[in-house]
Amino acid sequence: MKEIQDLREQYGKGELLEQDCSANPIDQFRLWWEDALSSDEHEANAMCLSTIDEYGMPNSRIVLLKGLSDQGFTFYTNYDSRKGRELSSGKAAINFLWKSLERQVRVQGSVSKISKDLSEAYFHSRPRESQISAYASPQSKAVESKAQIRAIRASIAEQFKDLEQIPLPDNWGGYILRPSKIEFWQGRPDRFHDRIEYYQVEGGWKTRRLAP
Ligand SMILES: Cc1cc2nc3c(=O)[nH]c(=O)nc-3n(C[C@H](O)[C@H](O)[C@H](O)COP(=O)(O)O)c2cc1C
Repeated sequence: MKEIQDLREQYGKGELLEQDCSANPIDQFRLWWEDALSSDEHEANAMCLSTIDEYGMPNSRIVLLKGLSDQGFTFYTNYDSRKGRELSSGKAAINFLWKSLERQVRVQGSVSKISKDLSEAYFHSRPRESQISAYASPQSKAVESKAQIRAIRASIAEQFKDLEQIPLPDNWGGYILRPSKIEFWQGRPDRFHDRIEYYQVEGGWKTRRLAP
């Protein structure tokens, strides 16, 4: 078996040059997003969301991107979860890894809850069983056992069995991360990668190349 330290890939599937970059990072993201969707990347919308807790300790977990607009990146979760508490700082970072394209996108920005109407519309577009799970799960809280939360879920399912529509839980909904910086990373041979970072200036965006 190979030693961990000997695992090594040579990159070279693409190149990222200044002249090929869109003026706006969301447009650039859309281009790479299309590439990711048409590649064999599994769950291209999976992204690592990073937050910082009240003691300054970083925390990260995967969530799914569920909306993209000129304003930013939308995802959904439980507002009372650990990440929900940490997102109340108003700051977060997300990171996409598209391995099959040897690409990474890093985003930093401000984060806020989206409107209840938007959360409700998305909630009701989810499969009914997922809606019940969202209702039943006290996400990130310690629970007694799997049997205990299964019982809670079963009683919620029973409670709503005659309702056509499961109501949106008060503690569940979306966030939008509005970018202040976005970096596009393309793997290159010999670890001499391409990195282009967009940063905000008065009235728009500028780019700069970062050393690999
Ligand atoms: C592929 C994948 C997708 C996930 N998508 C979400 C999601 O969209 N929303 C969510 O709340 N948790 C999602 N999770 C679970 C989170 O990673 C995490 O376990 C959960 O949200 C609790 O995180 P927290 O304790 O930091 O709040 C996903 C996990 C994986 C592996």
